[in-house]
Amino acid sequence: MEPEFIYFNEITDGRGGLVALEQNRNIPFEIKRVYYIYGTPENVRRGFHAHKALQQVAVCVKGACSFLLDNGRETVDCRLDSPTYGLYIGNNIWREMYDFTEDCVLMVLASELYDEADYIRDYEKFTLIVQQ
Ligand code: TYD
Repeated sequence: MEPEFIYFNEITDGRGGLVALEQNRNIPFEIKRVYYIYGTPENVRRGFHAHKALQQVAVCVKGACSFLLDNGRETVDCRLDSPTYGLYIGNNIWREMYDFTEDCVLMVLASELYDEADYIRDYEKFTLIVQQ
């Protein structure tokens, strides 16, 4: 499997850079929620879940972090280190995040409101679901 990166149009001039994220334009869904993860210690690994329906785009707006993605058959690792591109994560993808830099701010755009019932937090259950 390959990571699905979305490269954003950068508007840069002498004052710096600007990126706009728009639902159903450069973000391939209606954005219902935005959250961000910050202050993650370098040795911490988080995530460890998939979603039944949720789609997300993760953008490292500051610093860097790595993702492990797993579709139940293959895994891929990738690094996010720029506010100029995002990682699309569809449903039924197990993800783990690791190697956060101290200054990392990981912003996530999500297609649905927070719903714990949409989480698959058990890896064995995840593999059974994706094999169906
Ligand atoms: P979780 O999704 O488990 O974080 P990660 O995948 O980064 O390890 O969420 C951590 C906690 O935050 C958990 O108690 C659920 C809560 N939470 C919300 O209340 N709203 C949200 O939008 C998210 C993503 C998490």
